[in-house]
Amino acid sequence: MTIDFEQEVDHYGVNSIKWEFVVDDRELKHWDLTDPDLGDQSVLPMWVADMDFLAAPPIIEAVTRRAQRGLYGYASKTNSYLSAVCNWMARRKAWTVDPEWILMMPGVVTALHVIVRHFTVPGDKVLIQRPVYHPFTFSIENNQREVASSSLRLTGNRYEMDFDDLAEKAADPAVKLAILCSPHNPVGRVWSREELTRYAQICTENGVRVIADELHSDLIMPGRQFVSYGTLDERFLKDVFVCTAPSKTFSLAGLQTSNIIVPDAELRDELRLELRALGLWGTNPFGLVGTEAAYNYGEPWLDQVIDYIWGNLEYLDNYLQSRLPSMKLTPIEGTYLAWMDCRDLGLGGDALKSLMMDDARVYLDTGDKFGPEGEGYVRMNVACRRQTLELALARIERAVNNQVRG
Ligand SMILES: Cc1ncc(COP(=O)(O)O)c(C=O)c1O
Repeated sequence: MTIDFEQEVDHYGVNSIKWEFVVDDRELKHWDLTDPDLGDQSVLPMWVADMDFLAAPPIIEAVTRRAQRGLYGYASKTNSYLSAVCNWMARRKAWTVDPEWILMMPGVVTALHVIVRHFTVPGDKVLIQRPVYHPFTFSIENNQREVASSSLRLTGNRYEMDFDDLAEKAADPAVKLAILCSPHNPVGRVWSREELTRYAQICTENGVRVIADELHSDLIMPGRQFVSYGTLDERFLKDVFVCTAPSKTFSLAGLQTSNIIVPDAELRDELRLELRALGLWGTNPFGLVGTEAAYNYGEPWLDQVIDYIWGNLEYLDNYLQSRLPSMKLTPIEGTYLAWMDCRDLGLGGDALKSLMMDDARVYLDTGDKFGPEGEGYVRMNVACRRQTLELALARIERAVNNQVRG
């Protein structure tokens, strides 16, 4: 079945964070500035990582069928759910996962917080690679642990791990845990097997446990190959928590269903006891059927959405090169998040944010949100209709030209 991603979708009245809220001092505040009725004054939301598209038809059917049963009591995972997850991992990521290894949590951010809290103590350090998805930092700082950032190195417009620095940071005895973003949000890198192996080697040699956040691992652009941490040498799997979910792949974040895969039995039991201690149990019934339908029947939709997003990224790159050369797209290998270098505009974080939000009326994330290394960049979510992207770029071009003239 061919999916029409150009279809207009009404995003109002569904409590959508992306469409009906704004972040104000780390809190979500309800607003209505994205209302299209405001015409040129309406703000285009291209920030939080939700797609603008309707979910895949098999997911809508499964969730609707489940809702129509009218039974909303406690629910738990079944063998058919676990098979769907394991088959997906085997088929799409060449990783044979034992169903026993899977623990469920409402979200990956919850998992990060739980693991940081339980497997480190206040004052310990947690290694991350900035610029990176900002809740990595929150999960560390919210729990009075310290961030150790081995910042990514920019060679031309390509981000790479800085292995010498990583080894030095990992050797600090205070570093007990590392959080890997694979593929990397926001810089869009899909790490190679060689890179992941070197990373794993450094962490293992220094007794640093790893959380491999593979949430974006199904959104891989043409010509690239995702390598799961779970497919590295077995000696690296003793101390790893691999986080996966259908939430980015199929835009199901609201169903709050994620899978934390822990191959090592002892580590898994320890995490299981911690979940029990926190009273974290049970699963969203719609998340269960939605995930099962997504993994069993969603592949044709996923392949088409990746094609469409790739078209958007190409359109964006051409537009910037021909009309907005002061903004440059970092080559995106995975994710639908475009990471753009705006340093030629010469604007600090607040001024850049104001240019985008107040002048262009486009709600993007400015790069400083992902760490000081992101200063001068913006992140744009291009999982939207082409028309939305065209409008956003025309608005940004106009605002940039006005700013240059002003
Ligand atoms: C790398 C990464 N991890 C985790 C999350 C959030 O995951 P969840 O909604 O499961 O908490 C996101 C959301 O964009 C993300 O980009």
